[in-house]
Amino acid sequence: MQMTKFKTLDDLGDITGKVALVRVDLNLPMHEGSASDVTRVEAARPTILELTGKGAKVLLLAHFGRPKGQRSSVLSTSMVQGDVERVLGKEIMFIPEVAGPVAQQAIGILGNGDIGLMDNVRFWPGEEANDPQFAASIAALGDFYVNDAFSAAHRAHATTEGLAHLLPAYAGRAMEAELTALDAALGNPQKPVAAVVGGAKVSTKLAVLENLVGKVQHLIIGGGMANTFLAARGVNVGKSLCEHDLTDTVNRIMDEADRAGCTVHLPYDVVVAKEFAANPPSLRICNVHEVAADEMILDIGPLAVETLGDVLKTCRTLVWNGPLGAFETPPFDAATMALARIAAALTQEGSLVSVAGGGDTVAALAQAGVAGEMTYVSTAGGAFLEWMEGRELPGVAALSK
Ligand code: 3PG
Repeated sequence: MQMTKFKTLDDLGDITGKVALVRVDLNLPMHEGSASDVTRVEAARPTILELTGKGAKVLLLAHFGRPKGQRSSVLSTSMVQGDVERVLGKEIMFIPEVAGPVAQQAIGILGNGDIGLMDNVRFWPGEEANDPQFAASIAALGDFYVNDAFSAAHRAHATTEGLAHLLPAYAGRAMEAELTALDAALGNPQKPVAAVVGGAKVSTKLAVLENLVGKVQHLIIGGGMANTFLAARGVNVGKSLCEHDLTDTVNRIMDEADRAGCTVHLPYDVVVAKEFAANPPSLRICNVHEVAADEMILDIGPLAVETLGDVLKTCRTLVWNGPLGAFETPPFDAATMALARIAAALTQEGSLVSVAGGGDTVAALAQAGVAGEMTYVSTAGGAFLEWMEGRELPGVAALSK
């Protein structure tokens, strides 16, 4: 994805008393009735407060879960109203509509600098259908549109895409930061570029791998995916999670990498165990060629991490998606933690631009205590992956000038 030119909040004139329709991502993970992680609200905070600070009336548009075009009380955005208020440090008005006379009336009550939270845009089928009439009914409420939800930008929906064609459209601060970071990572990066791609399955990241082999100089494979690559090279991976049916695909990707001058890094030592549990008695570290038939690979080994650290030292840019091992269960988090710390140290020294994204990756970096030391950490899941696949994101394309 190449950086498209887009307008930012710097391009807004006087917005006192104007109504801003602001698309944010409030699809927050919930635990016992409140959000267990408010990173996405924190990300949208600067945009919201900048607009209210300039005297605009801000209407927040967001989806919450997948209600499939029907109202559902548990999927109302009112569920996260308290979390949003806490993060913003401001009271907001909940508006149980996204268009029509009730919404109009509510806007009439809002003063300059006030915030309204509209209900879940996905309660209306027109949202996911990107129905122009539905989009127009929302657009009728506002003077301009701001998209600050990169993590929903892979959806061509009415509030992520359609509205941008109906009103003057601007990228919010979080969207702007995200697009700038992503451009520095893959659009127009300093070379050599390394990509870490981990996670359980090759099948879910085929398009990512296919895109990356043509763009990066080092492709580091970890997680269950590495087992599939190792098996394709004839390594016996025992009971490991492995997609044996993807042998041909993996070989094709490795051939493409060869042609493109991209080195694919697979581990030569691994952490294995006979059962998947925390600190199992059968745990041992061995060469990949020594995995027994009743063992499974649960992390890459310390020698592999050391080598990968050396690779990163030669690189200028790193893109990271997916853990190297079963990081939620100790000690199979060791490699991910160790490489994350190396990447963070190189970033802090100024020799590496490091961009990471995806739910598991963010959790792993947080666990390593280095999320704040990378150049940029994206909280987007599907959107980050589609970006890594090299696809144009409809929500981003619609913002381009
Ligand atoms: C996310 O949580 O990744 C975004 O909010 C997108 O949600 P969706 O996958 O339901 O479109």
